[in-house]
Amino acid sequence: MCYAIPGKVEKIEDRFVTVDYFGEKRRAINELHDLAIGDYIYAQGGFVINKIPLAEAQEILAVWKEEFFHLQEVDLKLSRLDLKKKGVDEKLVRILDKPLVGQPLSQEELLYLLSLNNEHQLQLLYKTANFLRAKHHKNSCCVHGIIEISNYCKRSCAYCGISLQNHSAKRYRMSREEILEAARQAIDEYGFKALVLQSGEDSGYKIEELAEIIQQIKANWPALIFISFGEIGLDGLEVLYKAGARGLLMRFETSNPGIYQELHPGQDLNIRLEHIRKADQIGYLILTGGLIGLPGQTAGDILNDINLAKELNAEMFSFGPFLAHPQTPLAKFPTPSEEDVVRVLAVARLIDPAKAKILVTTALETLSSASRKEALLAGANSVMLNVTPLQYRPLYSIYPNRAHQSETIESQIQGTISLLKSLGRAPTDLSI
Ligand code: 5AD
Repeated sequence: MCYAIPGKVEKIEDRFVTVDYFGEKRRAINELHDLAIGDYIYAQGGFVINKIPLAEAQEILAVWKEEFFHLQEVDLKLSRLDLKKKGVDEKLVRILDKPLVGQPLSQEELLYLLSLNNEHQLQLLYKTANFLRAKHHKNSCCVHGIIEISNYCKRSCAYCGISLQNHSAKRYRMSREEILEAARQAIDEYGFKALVLQSGEDSGYKIEELAEIIQQIKANWPALIFISFGEIGLDGLEVLYKAGARGLLMRFETSNPGIYQELHPGQDLNIRLEHIRKADQIGYLILTGGLIGLPGQTAGDILNDINLAKELNAEMFSFGPFLAHPQTPLAKFPTPSEEDVVRVLAVARLIDPAKAKILVTTALETLSSASRKEALLAGANSVMLNVTPLQYRPLYSIYPNRAHQSETIESQIQGTISLLKSLGRAPTDLSI
């Protein structure tokens, strides 16, 4: 299975290369020493990942060529926008027109959009977000893999099923060999080009051990590696960047300091934000966001969350529903609806039409299996597949009954590819 289209290197200027994909030009950062004009490469998240032998590249391109233009046509059809229909709420049309012509929306207008609950109005919002996604990001959809390497955690986050306080959680920590094997399988066997390594805040791995694992993966199976090990310290970020990690997945969870304080005993929102900002400075791609539907959270808080994610220079937004876990202090709190979440993703696309990719989180898919399609048609353009070894997945129980918890990697890939095809999306990362 192939998750990227080979691009041809046309220009090399210092760290930057210009790459051609069927006539479209993209820029990427190159860290390979032996790259030459005319070489074929895979790029991901704006980084050159590896060179591809000419014959192999041509073979893959021949397969992609027809498919690529066909998918574009399907997407174009599905993302067509017609706001000027009769009977449509004029105020809403006036607001939705603004991002279409590049005008920013006021906080008041955004709050209005976040308050919509009429099905017809929501469809207009989703269509506008989908149109903006197609306009700025084309039909590419990132498909990342995630390996959850350990569920040990020293934190006591009130919503989280693998918190230190949950004494009934059975713990696991994958060995170095198990992690390398899972990475090999995902990258080499299944063709993933971007991989997230995630764990609770586990002091069981030394930072040097994590660095060595990342180096080994990079040396053997080229891919864009994201780390998601919680607050590893600013030095830790430097060490893992040197080892080859190029992305950080770290949500700030909520931008409301009061709610943050209440849900994260002993932690400080500012320290978390400092990590994210430092990672951005170092050169990591930033994947960030928060939880939707936390107790006490208002629409204003959610709007601040989206604005904060943008301000943090997010390459990708990760906003998902809070799902109550029975063994946590928040066990009795209600879960938001699918609509509550998709509306936030659509508004996020209006706030940041051109830069950030928007992830359909597994938590949203857990709320409803139809939500992946719905979110992809409302501004989202990224999905993450779980490539953790099957025996560990149920133990990474941050919330109950996670979607795809017992689904093989093959089956997840098949389901994803067929959905993306039906929507005219290419499982690539071309929007660089
Ligand atoms: N519901 C939804 N998401 C959760 N996370 C942790 N617990 C829950 C829950 N109960 C999310 C956090 C964290 C990510 C790894 O998992 O947002 O950043």
